[in-house]
Amino acid sequence: MSEQTGPTRRAVVQTGIAAVAVTLAGCRTYGANAGAKATAPGSGGGGTNAGAFAKTADIPVGGGRIFETQSVVVAQPTAGQFVGFSAVCTHAGCTVASVSGGTINCACHGSKFHIADGSVAHGPAAQPLPAAKISVSQGQISLG
Ligand code: FES
Repeated sequence: MSEQTGPTRRAVVQTGIAAVAVTLAGCRTYGANAGAKATAPGSGGGGTNAGAFAKTADIPVGGGRIFETQSVVVAQPTAGQFVGFSAVCTHAGCTVASVSGGTINCACHGSKFHIADGSVAHGPAAQPLPAAKISVSQGQISLG
């Protein structure tokens, strides 16, 4: 009979899988369709827009998605309406952490911003998230 003092093999394997899952999450999706499968930016969908970093189909209606590489949040407050904001919280500069319940949320100190216009829904931030200019073409989203 052997006594096991460290983590079990199963625990190590499960931890490894969790670490891989976190590593593969290149961006965060929240909102009504948060469980949707994410695809690599710019992949699929015809690929006609070389500067595209997202597809409109990846942005949930009534929610949004944070793109850390571009430091931008893309939200879809109503079906077919796409808006972009800086992902940098105006309170103290953290990158916002989630989009849920109609707001873009900063985990550092709890500020929340409305997805429709970036205005402050909950402090301590006093200034809205600045708009980030995005363009939508053929179902793909690019900066500018
Ligand atoms: S940096 Fe976002 S709430 Fe403080």
